[in-house]
Amino acid sequence: MADRDTEGSKDYQVDVPARSEPFFLKGSNELDWGLKNRLANIFDPSSGRTVMLAFDHGYFLGPTSGLERIDLSIVPLTRWADTLMCTRGILRTTIPPTYTGGIVLRASGGPSILKELSDEQLALSIDEAVRLNAAAMAVQVFVGGERETQSIHNLTRLVDMGNQAGIATLGVTAVGTDMVRDAKYMRLATRICAELGATYVKTYYVEKGFDTVAAACPVPIVVAGGKKVPEQDALRMAYGAVQEGAAGVDMGRNIFQSENPSAMIQAVRKVVHEDFKPHEAYEFYQTLKHETA
Ligand code: R5P
Repeated sequence: MADRDTEGSKDYQVDVPARSEPFFLKGSNELDWGLKNRLANIFDPSSGRTVMLAFDHGYFLGPTSGLERIDLSIVPLTRWADTLMCTRGILRTTIPPTYTGGIVLRASGGPSILKELSDEQLALSIDEAVRLNAAAMAVQVFVGGERETQSIHNLTRLVDMGNQAGIATLGVTAVGTDMVRDAKYMRLATRICAELGATYVKTYYVEKGFDTVAAACPVPIVVAGGKKVPEQDALRMAYGAVQEGAAGVDMGRNIFQSENPSAMIQAVRKVVHEDFKPHEAYEFYQTLKHETA
């Protein structure tokens, strides 16, 4: 039988105020515990930033370059990703359940690259997101697009479902090919996503005025990598984004289409989590590349 508790042995430290620390992510302080815990599985609490590895492109592009065999090209990279962004089909079939970082599930879809892309609808139920242990669900928002209102409605429905289950919602600003990718547009699109309840927002980096995009958005922003560019340029973009207020990157093609994807994702980590300058990160990339050649 356990010893009886004795009043004299207790220490309540009555002079020490109860700990009450603000949550490390912008705009997230008032969220419920479960949501914060999931966000801490997407963003590294020590740097406050994330390297999300995005390979959900197949949901409208099919087996695009670098994603023909996700088991061979992406799975070996997952050890360097804070978070994976993918579809439920790839998660179930290809990603080992031993992966313990955050999972961001693609939650909208419909049209392929052959059709009007803004015509997406929600493509995931909240039960599936819970079953698959998602930390967040991602939905495309086409501000200025042909189906703008429909895509905003997808976002708000997902926010309602996600908040109820304690799963974050990532609003993805999708910019039509005919639109100007400038700070003015990005401020509009990201702010609309945040105002309508997105837990965090994905957008594109712009050379001029990205700091105003980040400042005007009350929730964390991550930047997509976009089309494949030379490694130095992708590292420069990632550096500019985090230095000007982004909470990390959601990078796909500039990692998995790189000449050396494992070296590239590690170099991106240096920029995002350790504030490496672009030239330092590129040197690091080159060193790893030669080591693994
Ligand atoms: C695009 O719609 C996908 O959601 C990608 O996850 C996103 O664009 C990031 O990938 P990338 O860095 O290749 O642009």
